[in-house]
Amino acid sequence: MTDTVLVVDFGAQYARLIARRVREAHVYSEIVPASISVDEIRARAPKGIIFSGGPKSVYETPAPSIDPGVYELGIPMLGLCYGAQLMALQLGGTVSRTGQGEYGRTELSLTATSPLCPDWPVTSSVWMSHGDAITQVPEGFVPTAKSPGAPVAAMHDTDRRLFGLQFHPEVVHTDRGGEVFDHFLIDVCGCLPEWTHVSIIEQQVAAVRTQVGSDRVLCALSGGVDSAVAAALVHKAVGDQLTCVFVDTGLMRSGEADQVEDTFRRQFKVDLVHVKAADRYFAALAGVTDPERKRKIIGELFIRIFEEVARDLGAGGDGGSGAGADAGGGAPHGDGPRFLVQGTLYPDVIESGSDTAANIKSHHNVGGLPEDLAFDLVEPLRLLFKDEVRAVGEELGLPHEIVWRQPFPGPGLGVRIIGEVTPERAEILRNADAVVVEEIRRAGLYRELWQSFAVLPAVRTVGVMGDGRTYAYPIVIRAVTSDDAMTADWARLPYDLVERIASRIINEVEGVNRVALDVTSKPPGTIEWE
Ligand code: XMP
Repeated sequence: MTDTVLVVDFGAQYARLIARRVREAHVYSEIVPASISVDEIRARAPKGIIFSGGPKSVYETPAPSIDPGVYELGIPMLGLCYGAQLMALQLGGTVSRTGQGEYGRTELSLTATSPLCPDWPVTSSVWMSHGDAITQVPEGFVPTAKSPGAPVAAMHDTDRRLFGLQFHPEVVHTDRGGEVFDHFLIDVCGCLPEWTHVSIIEQQVAAVRTQVGSDRVLCALSGGVDSAVAAALVHKAVGDQLTCVFVDTGLMRSGEADQVEDTFRRQFKVDLVHVKAADRYFAALAGVTDPERKRKIIGELFIRIFEEVARDLGAGGDGGSGAGADAGGGAPHGDGPRFLVQGTLYPDVIESGSDTAANIKSHHNVGGLPEDLAFDLVEPLRLLFKDEVRAVGEELGLPHEIVWRQPFPGPGLGVRIIGEVTPERAEILRNADAVVVEEIRRAGLYRELWQSFAVLPAVRTVGVMGDGRTYAYPIVIRAVTSDDAMTADWARLPYDLVERIASRIINEVEGVNRVALDVTSKPPGTIEWE
């Protein structure tokens, strides 16, 4: 089994970043809550433990804490920021309200050598974010660095292999911060750097084989990166036991259906059921303008179609054994598929607050599948961050366009066609969107932007083209930068790019006579228009 390091989350957004840095050092990491018991930690046998920072002061009540028995386990530990202060306090040191907090880039001065940064210069630039400061180290510790606002900016007890840093080595603003993790993980904890894309694939392939045995597996492809990588992994594991289902709703982006066909049927030789369901979608959406109703109709129809395909393949007749059932057991499924692949990622698992179920915001669940489907779930990506999923996808040979595709909502163009969704309006938007994407790619901005696409409002405007008056739709360009879609900033696209997009759309897309640019951030706007 791969070496594991636990990252204890004290409530900072940094825990996730720390876990990613550990993985970048090729060591497997997991985020655990501060309420974890010492017995649980012992049972998981981590090679190291890292305490994250946190937004609270150790003197607030309640302030997050951890069972002090953790220090008796003999496992190497690294406390960062709040985590370092908690370690100092619990082991008998002093944390004071100095009244002199430090926020941002700060000069660090080494006062003794440390195994975490053995060859750093005496002064370097680090990232700080703290109000309180450690003023006296616990017995057995020595201070190894200071800064203007932190008399103890680093400390350690090498005998017990306990380390505390007031600064944040996980953020890019700390010079050589990555080396701190390398030294802690490899030199102090003795971890083997074995968590690589190749080993992730090997482990997941083996896990899927064990779970699935000789049963059949179903996977819904959306055209997005997560379902594509999950399908490619499962295909590598169980080959033609896998059947993929791609429902073309008529609300996909330009070329998306062809690409799924090309990649999965032709390149990977996956058994692919391609359901051309555009007519059914347009019929169900006729006359509907309310955004929530549109989402509901699109989501429910997807489920209905998926169930029809599953039934045709012989699944579900005798019921499954429910999600999460153990491998090999479960109810018999005849020849039909018993398992369903889901592209759940690690952040979904963390956000759910438990490791039993992915919890995706309900309005984002459209296009997903209900939990009561009679399948056992296969989730080969549930340990992975998005960047790891992309790396695995590349390693598996998926095309760049799929691996690096921007997020696309489950209801597809349906939430970008404001008002009624008709085949004609879908065609207008698809053509305009293709121009936006092509020009953004050509400008080298596609990967940098979180999302960039076209929106079709439900109004028409007057224009003049040639000698004639026109009365046609406007198209809105929506482009945002974001880290996680929770907040977003409108992208400052270069004007000449905006002009190129606008003139191409008006010249090439019939039914459009005007182009506008959305300059709304989130909040107050959402990324999608519906
Ligand atoms: P909003 O519009 O809420 O979107 O700012 C945030 C992110 O979620 C995507 N999105 C969806 N994804 N099903 C999905 O799978 C949905 O119904 C859905 N609605 C919005 C959106 O594209 C953005 O990345």
